[in-house]
Amino acid sequence: MADLHEFYPLRRHNTFGFDVRARFAAHVRSEDDLVAALADPRVAGLPVLVLGGGSNVVLTADLQALVLLMEIPGFSARASETAWLVTAGAGENWHALVCRTVTEGMPGLENLALIPGTAGAAPIQNIGAYGVELRERFASLRAYDRASGTFVELDAAQCAFGYRDSLFKQAGKDRYIITAVTLRLPRPWQAVLGYAELARELHDEPAPGAAAILDAVVAIRSRKLPDPTRIGNAGSFFKNPVVSAAQGAALLAVHPGMAHYTQADGRIKLAAGWLIDQCGFKGVRDGAVGVYEKQALVLVHHGGGNGAQLLALSTRIADAVQARFGVRIEPEPVVL
Ligand code: EPU
Repeated sequence: MADLHEFYPLRRHNTFGFDVRARFAAHVRSEDDLVAALADPRVAGLPVLVLGGGSNVVLTADLQALVLLMEIPGFSARASETAWLVTAGAGENWHALVCRTVTEGMPGLENLALIPGTAGAAPIQNIGAYGVELRERFASLRAYDRASGTFVELDAAQCAFGYRDSLFKQAGKDRYIITAVTLRLPRPWQAVLGYAELARELHDEPAPGAAAILDAVVAIRSRKLPDPTRIGNAGSFFKNPVVSAAQGAALLAVHPGMAHYTQADGRIKLAAGWLIDQCGFKGVRDGAVGVYEKQALVLVHHGGGNGAQLLALSTRIADAVQARFGVRIEPEPVVL
């Protein structure tokens, strides 16, 4: 029988810090631990939830589920002609991995510094920041396929990455449990400085190296985003909505100052943070939950509240944005 904990408190396992319990939880430090937990007769028929850093989930109630706390370690690197291939266990802390690769001379992840969570969680929402998305640095991953009961290797095409989206949020939801991720860091390295805010931060460095870019990203993020160890949050709470070229043009005619990014296909991505800010929510507090005062895109938990209160606030915000701009904004985290 697996080493299962009953009625396990999850407050330390979600970055919002919501105080809910799991009917069963298992610390998964190896693939054998994973197989053993899933096969335990006590959890037969229960839903399974995988938690990495718990940085992209809203826990609204106790979970009648088996919660797998993914802590599989591991780091290895090999060089090919054109890239470094770095394999990390699913439980490795993402930011520590970014720092380690840069320090050890394998740059390429620096724009993704300080994103909370684990290596195994990174592909699920195809994390992205400052001009780089995980899919551009991704080779393959290893996962347990609950449908076949075997371990499989999936490449980038099979992972079907999109903006904050992948197979693991769509057709493969609840099917795969990621145990290791292999990143592909192209050689020679090239700085990605296209993101205006990052370029501004580095204006007095003519040819910044990866370490300088990493420091700049850390500086920007620390200024704008609350540290989850101090104030409960899950980064951007809403995805940036993408509207048709026609709807974008109509909105811009009325709101010329609206933040927007034209996509390759002509559609227009709007800044959810700007839309929410315009509706007056920045810094608003509703009991134990609220909107971060420096960034309207981030919802925060000040302590003593619950996920249902946070969700109620998020619905109020989305309704206000819809009423004012005719655009529906959708939460980025998984709501449970
Ligand atoms: N804005 C406001 N008021 C606000 C917040 C933003 O007017 O309160 C305006 C800004 O001035 C800017 C625009 O809205 O013109 C965009 O804001 P910001 O740069 O703060 O956010 P973003 O670019 O939409 C995205 C990602 C972040 C990522 C950054 C950098 C999403 C939902 N968010 O934010 O990702 O770090 O770009 O690449 O795609 C995350 O997913 O958790 C996350 C932090």
